[in-house]
Amino acid sequence: MVEEALKQFNVTKDGMEEIAKRLTGCFVEGLSKEKHNSSVKMFITYVHSLPDGSEVGEYLALDLGGSNFRVLKIIIKDDGTIEQKVAKEKLTKDKITSTQEVLFDHVADCVAEFIAEHGIKETLPLGYTFSFPVDQQSLTSGVLVRWTKGFDADGAVGKDVVQLLIDAFKRKKLANVDVVALVNDTTGTQMALGLGNPDCYVGLILGTGTNACYMEETSNIPKYTGDKSKNSHVIINCEWGAFGEKGELDDFRNKVDEELDKGAVNVKEQQYEKMISGKYLGEMVRLVCYDLITKKLLCGGKMLPVFEEREKFESAYLSMIEQGDGSDLSKIKSLKDNNEVSILADANDDDCRIIRRVCEAVSTRAARLAAAGIVALVRKIKKVDKCTVAVDGSLYKLHPHFKDRMIAAMKEMEPNNGIVMKLSEDGSGRGAAMVAAVAHRMKKQ
Ligand code: BGC
Repeated sequence: MVEEALKQFNVTKDGMEEIAKRLTGCFVEGLSKEKHNSSVKMFITYVHSLPDGSEVGEYLALDLGGSNFRVLKIIIKDDGTIEQKVAKEKLTKDKITSTQEVLFDHVADCVAEFIAEHGIKETLPLGYTFSFPVDQQSLTSGVLVRWTKGFDADGAVGKDVVQLLIDAFKRKKLANVDVVALVNDTTGTQMALGLGNPDCYVGLILGTGTNACYMEETSNIPKYTGDKSKNSHVIINCEWGAFGEKGELDDFRNKVDEELDKGAVNVKEQQYEKMISGKYLGEMVRLVCYDLITKKLLCGGKMLPVFEEREKFESAYLSMIEQGDGSDLSKIKSLKDNNEVSILADANDDDCRIIRRVCEAVSTRAARLAAAGIVALVRKIKKVDKCTVAVDGSLYKLHPHFKDRMIAAMKEMEPNNGIVMKLSEDGSGRGAAMVAAVAHRMKKQ
C-alpha cells in the first residue's frame, strides 16, 4: 500500500528523456530573442571566459541568496592559492520578507562591520553574488525578475539589484567599496572550479534552490547583441528552476506537488525547483507522511507533531534519515530537531522503515530530474564525451546518496558519458572574486 503511494514519484528512463527533450526546447527558445516565451530565461552573464590564472589581488565578495548571507575578503595569490576571511550571518524571515530597504540595509551593516573588523582602509573591488533570477544588462547591472526560495522583500522586483546595494551603502555612508561584478551562484561555482579545469563547461547548484549555467558559443545565441567576433563564448545563466511553469512538467507532477505549491509564497512559479531543491524536499516528505498517517498506513494513524505543521520537517532530516543502508533504525528514532527535541521517538521500526522509504522516493526523483537537466545541457553543447560539472549546494554536499543517484541516472541516459561532477567548494564566494578580478583588470585597461 505504501509502495503504491510512492509510485507517483517514479521517473522512468523514458520520463527523463522526455524531460530533457522539453528542457532543451526551452533552452533554445530562451536563447532565441529578447522577447521570447520560454519559462527558462537563459540570461546572458557577460562572463566570457574561465579564469586563466592571471587573476591575482585582494577582493571583497558578497554572497546573498540562501539561508545565510556572507561577506568575504579573498586574496588570490600568484601561485593560484587563495586565502579568505569570512563573516556569516543567518538571514531571518523578517529580513528577507519585509522591504528591500530592510534587507539591503542589513547587508550594508554587515559589510560595514566586516570592513571595520578587518581594518580594511583601501577601496577593494567587490564581486556580488546575488542568486536570484536577474536579467543582466552588463556585468555590473541587472534587474530582479522575481524572488525565489522564500525571499519576498517588497520593492526589489523590477529594480537594478546593484543600484539597490549601492543605495544602501550610501545610506550607511560606506564609501570604500566598488561593485565591479554581479554574479549568479552558478556562474561563481563554474568560475571557481574553472581555473585548472578547462573542461568545466557547466556550473550547477543543488542547495536551497537549483539552477545551472554553462559556457555557450555566442554564435548559438540569436539574442546576443554584443560583438560576436570579439567574444566567441559567454556563460548563460539558465534559471532552470522556472522550468515547468508553462505546463512542461504537468504530466510528471503529482498531488503532493500540487499541495506543496499551494502552500508556497511563490505559487505556480519555479516548478522544477520545487521538485528538486532543498527548500522543498522536507515539506514534500512531510506531506506524504501526513497523508499516510491519515490513511492509517503510518504510525498507526497517530499524527506526530513533526508532520502536522507546514515546513516542520526539514530537508536536512532527509540526509540524516537516508544515511547508511537502512539496517540501523536507531539513528532515525533518535533524530532531534534544533531544540534537541526527539521528533520520531513515537515511531516504531516499521514506521521508521516507511519514513526512510518516503525520503528515498522523494530525493531519488529529485536526483533523476536534476540528472535529466544536466544531460540535456551537456548534449546541447555536444560535450557528452568529456565535461566537468562544477557543483555546490547543501543538498549535493550533505545528502548521502544524491550524487550517486544522479550519476546512475545520467548513465542510464548516456551509458558512455564522460561527465564528471566535481565539488566547487564555496563557489559563490571565490567565483565572485574571480569574476571581480577579471572585471577589475578590464576596467583598468
Ligand atoms: C535562483 C537562482 C539560483 C538558484 C540556486 C534559484 O532559486 O533563481 O538564481 O542560482 O536558486 O541558488
